[in-house]
Amino acid sequence: MSKNGTNILVVDDEVGYRTVLNNALTERGFYVKTACSGDDALEVLKNQEFSVIILDMKLPGGIDGLELLQKVKEQYNTSVLIMTAYGGIETAVEAMKRGAFNYITKPFSLDEIILNVDRMIAQYNIIEENKYLHSELEKAFGLKTIIGNSREIQKVLDMVSRVAHSAATILITGESGTGKDLVARAIHFTGNRKNKKFVVINCATLSENLLESELFGHKKGAFTGAIQTKMGLFEEADGGTLFMDEIGDIPVSVQAKILRVLQEGEFIPLGDTLARHVDVRIIAATNQNLIKKVQEKDFREDLYYRLNVINITMPPLRDRKEDIPLLTKYFIEKYNERENKRIKGISPDVEDGFYQYHWPGNIRELENVIERAITLTNEAIIPLHIILPFVKKAGGNDMFWDELFSLPYKEARKKSLDAFNTKYVMNVLNKNNGNVTNTAKEIGIERQYLQRILKKYHIKSGQTV
Ligand SMILES: Nc1ncnc2c1ncn2[C@@H]1O[C@H](COP(=O)(O)OP(=O)(O)OP(=O)(O)O)[C@@H](O)[C@H]1O
Ligand SMILES: [Mg+2]
Repeated sequence: MSKNGTNILVVDDEVGYRTVLNNALTERGFYVKTACSGDDALEVLKNQEFSVIILDMKLPGGIDGLELLQKVKEQYNTSVLIMTAYGGIETAVEAMKRGAFNYITKPFSLDEIILNVDRMIAQYNIIEENKYLHSELEKAFGLKTIIGNSREIQKVLDMVSRVAHSAATILITGESGTGKDLVARAIHFTGNRKNKKFVVINCATLSENLLESELFGHKKGAFTGAIQTKMGLFEEADGGTLFMDEIGDIPVSVQAKILRVLQEGEFIPLGDTLARHVDVRIIAATNQNLIKKVQEKDFREDLYYRLNVINITMPPLRDRKEDIPLLTKYFIEKYNERENKRIKGISPDVEDGFYQYHWPGNIRELENVIERAITLTNEAIIPLHIILPFVKKAGGNDMFWDELFSLPYKEARKKSLDAFNTKYVMNVLNKNNGNVTNTAKEIGIERQYLQRILKKYHIKSGQTV
């Protein structure tokens, strides 16, 4: 282990001990500082962090060893080795309770000190490395990866931070590409299970039998092909989170077993007789309408309620179009980095097109469009003609959209505004059985204004969409 940069603070009021420890540790390549009292030590600690402190329990002046230990443990990730005089075992026990790494009784051999110090540094390094890894994980999967300022997405973020620390089961619903995966990860990696595993299973891609053996595991010989005993994902996720993606596709037979895990925290691996107990937080996601599946008896009602303790509904992108500029910027930066490009933004007609488009593939579609555009262009501002083929394709047979893109800007804008007015007004009017007064009230405009729109677009009140 490299000792370079490893700082040790020796705190002792006896100059003899300070000198001996200083010399011995410096000789072994450590960087050593000494302090002769608790107050002195606190002064030194203000300016510098130490991996290890070797601390005498009996110190003169205002602050004794135990108090200093407590202060250090509250503020730093430093490992503390306690030195006590012969007979000071009670203090030593108290020090251990307050988080000391170990204690040694005076007089001690230098070997004893070195042995302890090496172990303390190893532990310190592991903790530091873990802290670093976790901050990296949080950067990659935490709340900050969910981009958006709209009220809709802020509501989701608020919910995520409120539920992250609980163990309650969460059901995330929403159309494809709205960020369900992203949210599931953010919940795990910001919550108190972040040091444990985040295990993912996609329930849609596995056959009934395979799904069962994946989830619950099996014993060797449980079925043809079970050549080895295999641990299931519930067990693998013990203490952590199991993300069950596409939960709507679970066969009814497997649903009962999942219900049991949710209710009793236990299950039996295939071919086994012994139940396993686990503590797993379940996050489930689906883009299907589970209530409808319950009505059609495709999904157990009791399981639905067990899963839906907390519901997070992801808004489709078309309902939070104000986030499009921010998301666009975010994805441009992301793919600039990957492609080593310096694209600055999108042209105003692309901006307008993005705003009007209905994004059936939601954020995934927006990301894909930008990814492809960045791969293909070297212009500083992404022009419309680069975007067109992808959006058309992604939008499927959206004739209206295709047609818009072939028009000059002003004409296209007018056309889409007309289409919006017609569709919007007809829709609400229809809901209000053609009653103009009620319709105007519902959408928050004057009756006269609504009349003008109706006249302009030749809409008769009472007409249906
Ligand atoms: N708010 C957001 N900010 C940044 N990126 C996002 C956001 N929402 C989604 N994405 C990105 O969009 C893509 C699709 O998101 P995700 O996979 O989470 O969607 P999903 O709802 O799970 O879709 P599906 O139902 O198809 O599984 C991912 O690359 C994700 O990183
Ligand atoms: Mg997903």
